[in-house]
Amino acid sequence: MSRKKTLFPDTEDEAIPRQHTSPCFAELLDQHLSRRHLLKGSAAATLATSLPRSLSASTDHPSSLGFSELPHGLDSQLHVAEGYESQVLLRWGDPLFSNSPIFDPARQTAAAQQRQFGYNCDFIAFMPLATDAQGRHGGLLCVSHEYSSSRMFSHSPKLPPKTRTGVELATHGHSVVEIRQRRNTWSVIINSPLNRRISPLDTWMRLAGPAAGHPRLQTTADPKGTRVLGTLNNCAGGTTPWGTVLICEENFQAYFGGKPTDRSEQRNYERYGIGPRHRYGWARFHPRFGLAQEPRESNRFGWVVEINPYDPTSMPVKRTALGRFKHESATVALNPDGRVVVYSGDDQAFEYLYKFVSDGHYAAGADTNQLLDKGVLHVARFDENGSVDWLPLIYGQGPLTEKNGFTSQAEVLIETRRAADLLGATPMDRPEGITLHPDNGHIYLALTKNHARTPWQKNGPNPRALNRYGHILEIIPPGDKADHAATEARWEIFALGGKGANKTSGLDPAGWFACPDNLACDARGHLWIASDGATSASGIADSLWACDTLGPGRALSRHFLRAPKGAEVTGPCFSPDQRTLFLSIQHPGGGWPDFSPGMPARPTVVAIQHHDGRKIGG
Ligand code: FEO
Ligand code: CA
Ligand code: CA
Repeated sequence: MSRKKTLFPDTEDEAIPRQHTSPCFAELLDQHLSRRHLLKGSAAATLATSLPRSLSASTDHPSSLGFSELPHGLDSQLHVAEGYESQVLLRWGDPLFSNSPIFDPARQTAAAQQRQFGYNCDFIAFMPLATDAQGRHGGLLCVSHEYSSSRMFSHSPKLPPKTRTGVELATHGHSVVEIRQRRNTWSVIINSPLNRRISPLDTWMRLAGPAAGHPRLQTTADPKGTRVLGTLNNCAGGTTPWGTVLICEENFQAYFGGKPTDRSEQRNYERYGIGPRHRYGWARFHPRFGLAQEPRESNRFGWVVEINPYDPTSMPVKRTALGRFKHESATVALNPDGRVVVYSGDDQAFEYLYKFVSDGHYAAGADTNQLLDKGVLHVARFDENGSVDWLPLIYGQGPLTEKNGFTSQAEVLIETRRAADLLGATPMDRPEGITLHPDNGHIYLALTKNHARTPWQKNGPNPRALNRYGHILEIIPPGDKADHAATEARWEIFALGGKGANKTSGLDPAGWFACPDNLACDARGHLWIASDGATSASGIADSLWACDTLGPGRALSRHFLRAPKGAEVTGPCFSPDQRTLFLSIQHPGGGWPDFSPGMPARPTVVAIQHHDGRKIGG
């Protein structure tokens, strides 16, 4: 999502003088080299392969990626590199069941939305299925629906408010949809017994982990504090080795409002941006979203939710051990010793990067039900010398005691942000997508932008004031096998967003990116970078870029796909054979993809393939 959560509206973005926001290359070089001089031993020997791309690039395009770059541009169409084709697979309103009503944007109902693909598709997971009776391979496409928008009602402006609220609730959440491929065409299997719509209107979820049942999670509808109706604002997510999907509750604060009579949560509200103003106004018809009626309902959002897509009757589980914040990404690493590590960012300016390390060890076929309930949540402190310290958020340790208002681990988790403040975590430039290199386990973290960082707040991992274009960090766990459970790691700046950062790189003019949001590594270790906000930052369409992570083409980003005007690109997800790339095109403008007078623009999942069936990227 782009506008609703930036600290400054786009109009204020434009008020920032451009000359003050462009990165000063010499300054960045100085910072980088002076920081590198602080490194010791073998770390310094890696300088040649770890420089930002603007330092290591040559003019002969040494990238291993074999596609022809698109030019930058901004129009109402989706463009993809030559030789590739995009197939519209799932649009907002498309039927998932045999009894799904035909989508009618002028006469929407909550009941219809609950049988149709939801709005503002975001995270995508492809969960494989066995070949079917017709010899088709396929899988379950698991897609989050981040948020509703007034754009949904452009063809039904007179919808009664109660009906509209029901539609908004029903369109949130998640869809699980069986898809099958024959030759180069993917098909949605309408009415597959595995198809499912999950929404905050009617899908109950179990609370699990240390905060489950805590009085601060108890409400009128759930006096035990163990069951929640639905999930909200699901942005980037992740998958587990045991075949479940993790979806993240990001900007949950936007759904609550009103004046609470119970002031006991006030400090908590303020830290998460929960205030009297209702962005959605749902409390009028659903009192649980009113702070006066249910002062603790908002404590039941802001978690990571685990879904078993292979069992449509399963109850999703909110895993409180992973902390409560504006989660973007829940990227899972299976540690060499079998522990499970989940990386997750808190996407707001000056918020933090976290990881959860399980106590238990994963073993194929063993019970995984409590693996994400018992373990230690850590928050990252980045030091100028290139090291990362992972600080444990454990009740009773350091400042996380009664003296600071924490009486249990449950409270440390409910107020994760405040606990992380007290530990001295490093405020970052909006942590968004996180992905892992498939071979060496290096972590890539998108920091999308942060207009509010002042010159005196610059530091190593957030090196630009008024960070308008964002950047990507590489985090390197210790050990030959990448020990993700370790309490230390190293960091590097992998790439800087913005045209100015590339001016000496010799890249094709389209190769520079801005405002990285979702990231994905393919099986060969290429990094794919989807953007959100590039139009307001740089006047170019939000797009998908790709680059090598190693070798001479490291961090030389290349422009692969350009979204229609108004859209951001989210959820990059590769099929297991690497020959299809699924993408969410969120909040497009200009009538895309239908271009029909009776149809608004529709958020859509597309499937990208090469016409000769080669792996994506060449
Ligand atoms: Fe929903 Fe952080 O983007
Ligand atoms: Ca974003
Ligand atoms: Ca995002």
